[in-house]
Parts: sequence; structure tokens; C-alpha cells
Amino acid sequence: MNLLLIGSGGREHALAWKLAQSPRVGELFAAPGNPGIAHEACLAALDPYDFPNVIRFCRENAIDLVVVGPEAPLVAGLGDALRAEGIAVFGPSQAAAALEGSKGFTKDLCAEAGIPTAAYRRFDEASSARAYLREVGAPIVVKADGIAAGKGVVVAQTLDEALAAVDACFDGAFGEAGAEVVIEAVLVGEEASFFAICDGTTALPFGAAQDHKQVGDGDTGPNTGGMGAYSPAPRIDAAMQARIMDEIIRPTVTTLAERGTPFSGVLFAGLMLTQKGPELIEYNVRFGDPECQVLMLRLESDLVEILLAAAQGRLDSVEVEWSEEAALAVVLAAKGYPGDYQKGTPIDGIEAAEALPGVKVFQAGTASKGGQLVAHGGRVLNVAAVGATIAEAQARAYEGVDAIRWDDGFCRRDIGWRAVGR
Ligand code: AMP
Ligand code: GLY
Repeated sequence: MNLLLIGSGGREHALAWKLAQSPRVGELFAAPGNPGIAHEACLAALDPYDFPNVIRFCRENAIDLVVVGPEAPLVAGLGDALRAEGIAVFGPSQAAAALEGSKGFTKDLCAEAGIPTAAYRRFDEASSARAYLREVGAPIVVKADGIAAGKGVVVAQTLDEALAAVDACFDGAFGEAGAEVVIEAVLVGEEASFFAICDGTTALPFGAAQDHKQVGDGDTGPNTGGMGAYSPAPRIDAAMQARIMDEIIRPTVTTLAERGTPFSGVLFAGLMLTQKGPELIEYNVRFGDPECQVLMLRLESDLVEILLAAAQGRLDSVEVEWSEEAALAVVLAAKGYPGDYQKGTPIDGIEAAEALPGVKVFQAGTASKGGQLVAHGGRVLNVAAVGATIAEAQARAYEGVDAIRWDDGFCRRDIGWRAVGR
């Protein structure tokens, strides 16, 4: 069968690498892809928001399944457009993608379904939001309702900080995404990323990981898209997984199905493991990046079978096998990220890194310029490794990092510290 993968990041490189291993795949296309993905798939210069053109491409290339990596095309309705044409797609409808597209939508769903999450209020104008903040005080969390490139959340330690965050939202700092604001209580505990593959009615647990959101060692500095990740997540044992499935994932899938907007695709729950148990921080309707990279290194089952079963509503007959090994990924980013950074600086040494035991390099923001691999984004490479323990995977991943020659790059040196110290 022929597949089309939408996206161009490290997550999609990992997906392409795993999809390409399936004996079921004839042609694998990726749009727009990147130089790393080009090793696994045939790149197509398709704009994922030009739905008619994506549909035409699928027809011309007899595509049997479209796998959508990032959330934005799903929130824009790519899944619906493809399904309306009878093309199988891994990824939710626009209506179900509101789980990521609107934090208020998700909070209301949690309230309706009794899903544990931080107490919250929604506001669509500044004065009542400010009045509420004065009433409850700090610490408190202020979130732009919509998708704000990971920058729309402020965990405010003081009332002034919280008030400033509300003003920034309503003054248009996040455009449309900030037209509504969610204010919620601070959750205390350890964060983890939990994944479930869904087909509208069945939800299949699909692994857990932990990432490091902050740019600096010791979890300091501004938040990023994620500077590294590891899997499994030591805190998510079988008992914890059962609680997450029972208390969070299944009620979500059931409620959306009952509303007539079933969720199919991957549900990524950002969790806080609190003293009371797991609580939902937020949902994403896509794989995490870099969490996906470590999951793919541990997945032993055929990814095509799983994603196709999800798209076709057959997940109840699927089982997923995982390696006993751990995996850890270190993000190499361009100096300056998550602020301003340069593009176009040369990168070498990927082959040398991949010659080391257990090491795999996934490319994210890269481009090819006259045959030379260059940086083309903020998060540029994921140097990942498997090992018998997280500590071994960590040591191998950093050996891989040290084999890469990229003067303009940097990484955190402590990815996995919490798990390794345990
Ligand atoms: P989000 O985009 O909603 O995942 O938020 C980004 C980050 O902000 C999360 O990964 C948490 O570290 C933090 N955060 C968000 N909501 C809360 C909360 N209610 N309590 C504590 N931390 C939070
Ligand atoms: N690594 C977190 C995310 O993908 O949102």
C-alpha cells in the first residue's frame, strides 16, 4: 500500500523511519519532509492546507493512508477533507481536534465527563478576568485559549505577572488564540506525556514518555517545544496506566463519541502526576515532539498496521509490542533558540554518530544546500539512543551528540536526569 505522511519535523522523521520498516508499504511519500525524511520517503512539495491539491495527489499516487504529523492541518480540517473523499486518514476531524485547538473546549469536556484536571474559569474579556485574578490571587495559571506555538501559557507566581498575562492575551499578543483566556489552579507534581491511539470508540494505550520543556540544564530558562525526552516514564507503571486510561482517556473518547464527534488518531495527554493521582494539563491531537522519536525507537509492532486500524475503526483487534529497552533523545538546537537564531550553518558528523552502538539521529529543522546539510530551524537534530536502562541510553545519546560537528548548535547536558537519578 501507498502512504502519504504530512509534516517536516523530527517527529515526522521518526514516523517515516518506522513506517518505512513495514513490509506492507509500497511507496511512502512525505510532504513537505526534510533531508532526513528523504532517506525514508519520496518528498512531495505539497501545501497541507491546499486540500484540493492534497486530494489530487492522493488520487494520482493511489494513496491508501494519509498520516498527519502536526496539529495545525488537523485543526484546519485536513482530516475531514480527506475522509469526505473516501481517503483513509490517521488524525482526528476538525471537531475532535478542538481538544488541542481550544483549551476551554477541553476544560469543559473534563467538567462534563468528570476527568481530573485543574479547577478553571473561562473569560472572553479582560475586566472580569482581572477581577477573578484579584479574587483568587497567585500562584495561578493563565492560558490563551487557542494554539499559540507553546507560548500562550504563563504559570504566574505573582498577581502582577498573572494580570500582565491576561492583558497580553486580550491585547492581541497571540492573535485569535488569545481572544479567550482560561485561568486555572496550579497543579503540583511530576509531568509526563501519555499516548493513546484511538479509532473513535476504542482507545489503545500507546506508551508514555517524559520531556524537558525548559531550555536550560536543571530545567531552567524559558519553555521550548521540548529539549529532550525519554521512554518509558518510570512513574507510569501498569497501575498508573490503568488509572490514566480509566479516569482520563476513556471518558474523553466516550464523551466525544456520544457528542457525535468521535476522536480517531493519537491522543497525547500532558499529565501532572499529583499526590491525588494523574490530572490532565492539556490534550494534543498529535504525537509529541521529541516524545514520538523515543516511542518509535521502542515500538516493535508494525506502525502501519496500527495507524491503518485506527483509521478504519478496527483497533479492538490490535495488540502493540514494545521493546524492553529504554530510549532517550537529546535535541540539538540553534544557538539563541527559543529566541532568535541563525539559519544556514553547516552540520556534519551524522554518519559518525549513527555508527555508534544504539544511536539514531532524527532530523528536524534541517535543509540541504548544495549537498551540505545546514540548520534551517530552532530545533534541528534529535540525537537518540536505545539502551538497557535510561542511563545507558543517555550515555549513548551524548556520545552521539559529541560525534556531531555543528558550531552553531547547543543542547542540554542533563536530559533524563530525574529518571537516571532514581
Ligand atoms: P500546556 O501548553 O497547557 O501544556 O502548558 C505548558 C506547560 O505549562 C505545561 O507543560 C506545564 O509545565 C505548565 N502548566 C500548564 N498548566 C499548568 C497547571 N495547571 N499547573 C501547573 N503547571 C501547568
Ligand atoms: N514535547 C511536547 C510537545 O510536543 O508538545
